[in-house]
Amino acid sequence: MDHFVYRDGALHAEDVPLAEVAAQVGTPFYCYSTATLTRHYQLFEEALHGLDHLVCFAMKANGNLAVIRTLAQLGAGMDVVSGGEYRKALAAGVPGERIVFSGVGKTRAEMRLALEGGIRQFNVESEPELAALSEVAAAMGVEAPVAIRVNPDIDAGTHDKIATGRKEDKFGIPIARAREVYAEAARLPGIRACGIDVHIGSQLTELAPFEAAYRRVAELTRTLRADGHAIDRLDLGGGLGIPYTASNEVPPLPAEYGALIKRTVGDLGCSVEIEPGRLIAGNAGVMVASVIYRKRGEGRDFLILDAAMNDLVRPALYDAWHDIVPLAEPAAGAARAPVDVVGPVCESGDTFARQRPLPMLESGEMVAFRSAGAYGAVMASEYNARPLVPEVMVHGDQFGVIRARPSFDEMLARDTLPQWL
Ligand code: LLP
Repeated sequence: MDHFVYRDGALHAEDVPLAEVAAQVGTPFYCYSTATLTRHYQLFEEALHGLDHLVCFAMKANGNLAVIRTLAQLGAGMDVVSGGEYRKALAAGVPGERIVFSGVGKTRAEMRLALEGGIRQFNVESEPELAALSEVAAAMGVEAPVAIRVNPDIDAGTHDKIATGRKEDKFGIPIARAREVYAEAARLPGIRACGIDVHIGSQLTELAPFEAAYRRVAELTRTLRADGHAIDRLDLGGGLGIPYTASNEVPPLPAEYGALIKRTVGDLGCSVEIEPGRLIAGNAGVMVASVIYRKRGEGRDFLILDAAMNDLVRPALYDAWHDIVPLAEPAAGAARAPVDVVGPVCESGDTFARQRPLPMLESGEMVAFRSAGAYGAVMASEYNARPLVPEVMVHGDQFGVIRARPSFDEMLARDTLPQWL
């Protein structure tokens, strides 16, 4: 459920007509709903009720300061993957003890930054990283709390580019080598290995791969405890999928996911962290664009928008589907005809949808791409010298620009000429 619905013939974000935002901000832009973000976060809170837990929002899905602060005020922790995300989390008001640091390539500078500012744990993904963290922490005279990310060799059944738990993926250490690595961690100065971390992929639409992974983690917890390690926390990653279209199969609900967590690891007495990104932010955002032209091609029509692959890259990169709906509600039974929905960027990959049945839309009319709140604006670029897409947030009947569109002068000013020019 989200808060983007038609009211009086106009698509609203909560109580704000999106056309009103467009009139003020111009298109394209992203718009997020506070109520939807809040609701999705709370679904996870309810799902884990009764368990010592922390819901850490995966900031990579949507790193806007206003989004992070909204979630932080609800009590969310953050899962960060760079020094930049770590700084943003602190700037949004998230205390260090609610931040977990993931990622395969943390630099020593990033480790130092997090140890200085406070950190709940580092999710360590390799032995060289463990050794580097040990050196950095020991030199600072502190102990780094660590969960080792294990790779359970499980196929999450998702898109190849976002599956992370198979042995050929770059993530984690092979679970079969976990005992050795924990033994090494116990010997290293500056390291306190207190947890296990796992994340097998994104946009999972079945519970079975989670179940297989979490059972392996439970078994490993018992083994490591028998080896004398004080494992008292489990980071179970993110990855729960969302419905991108009503006709899709419906992914499991957070409540079912929570019940699975309790069933598989609930008896271990561990504190549990999860790192959802997409499920919290995905359906809490839309991208609004205007039609520039409707062009008749050979055997097909093209709807050319003012948004492009640089603003929303998911269709080009993962062949992802986003529902596209007009801002003005079509009359019941209005005729639909298939069109290719494309952007102005000079490559054929700049196609949002092929042969999508849509009502007749002409120049100047506006559409919204649904389910665009996760991995949308964060993945945007200025390709083709198109200014970075702005972001807006709605709260009831109010809205605010939470990232303004840069002016051309600002864009130009970021390039500098070397002395010989
Ligand atoms: N934790 C870790 C360690 C991750 O790598 C990810 C996502 C998450 C949590 C959050 O997963 P989520 O709950 O959002 O599925 N750009 C792609 C998705 C990349 C996901 C990367 N890792 C897309 O647009 O589909």
